[in-house]
Amino acid sequence: MADTRPRVWVSQPLFGDVVARLREHFDVVETARVGKHSPDEIAAALADCDGALVTLNDPIGALEVANAPRLRAIANVGVGYNNLDVPALTAAGIVVTNTPDVLTETTADFGFALMMAAARRITEAERWLRDGQWRQWSFETMLGGDVHGATLGILGMGRIGQGIARRAAGFRMRVLYHNRSRLPADVERDCNATYADVDTLLAHADHLVLVLPYSPGVHHIVDAAALAKMKPTATLTNIARGGIVDEDALADALESGRLAAAGLDVYEGEPAINPRLLALRNVVLTPHIASGSLATRRAMVALAVENLIAALGVGPRAGDPPTPVNAALSPSPNERGVGMRGNEVETGPIAHDTDRRKPTASK
Ligand code: GLV
Repeated sequence: MADTRPRVWVSQPLFGDVVARLREHFDVVETARVGKHSPDEIAAALADCDGALVTLNDPIGALEVANAPRLRAIANVGVGYNNLDVPALTAAGIVVTNTPDVLTETTADFGFALMMAAARRITEAERWLRDGQWRQWSFETMLGGDVHGATLGILGMGRIGQGIARRAAGFRMRVLYHNRSRLPADVERDCNATYADVDTLLAHADHLVLVLPYSPGVHHIVDAAALAKMKPTATLTNIARGGIVDEDALADALESGRLAAAGLDVYEGEPAINPRLLALRNVVLTPHIASGSLATRRAMVALAVENLIAALGVGPRAGDPPTPVNAALSPSPNERGVGMRGNEVETGPIAHDTDRRKPTASK
């Protein structure tokens, strides 16, 4: 008898025991290789599938789904989904889901740690020590900037930004934030955070953390002009997406002492890293691991599996995936978040107030 079960493609090796749940309902085509697939490989994999479990390694748009007539759902394992052309997939009738919430606290932990590592020169000091350069204790070795009592600037105040703000309270930091829409007063109070325009944020932050979702509207929003508005003693931390920062402008600022230090977990051409950043001592570089605790990465895969099962119309939540992205196709679009790593569906620019452009939408 012919097998009529739906078929799903799992684009990367993910936790096998978690992904195994898919086999209760579907034929599962797994991929042994970690890494990016070419558009042709993705199109070929999707051609006879009803659903797919994908990651940020898999850019998918109109071209990749053009010859996939059965494809009904794509579950992204990640909260950011700029690898997916959601309008094109929505137009093709494909439900898109992501994995918010389960990674909020883990990612906020990491953002805070990266900011602290940059401010206190932790990886730079370790490299120097391992290189055998520590020959004498000295009062002036590796002096960094304070975190406690400093002003923290958060650009993109979604759930993760709010998590970082809550952590800052323990360090008695003053927290300024910018978001396309201002948070309700009770949330501001809970985060002990004050709304500011972008220029104020840049000018006052001792440590600026980027947690906003990537869209073309925020491409290189942190450019030479923005960096020039920051304090020379400040640090910049990016756990959002690489394209938000102009890496050459950042390298200029770090080389010239225009900016004290940076912590980067994401890169415009990742996994390739701008060689100028690799050559600098005052930047902490990590390989896009902000959500990477074992428990959280497993929870992300579990949520994506649940989304895919529901989006393909089976299981206890048939037809009602827990965290859908595209409002047009989902009965309960998850638009609860504001700022980075909610299920944002609005992606207009964040304006510099001096640009006289007004923020167009909330996140
Ligand atoms: C990771 O960057 C994610 O978006 O989950």
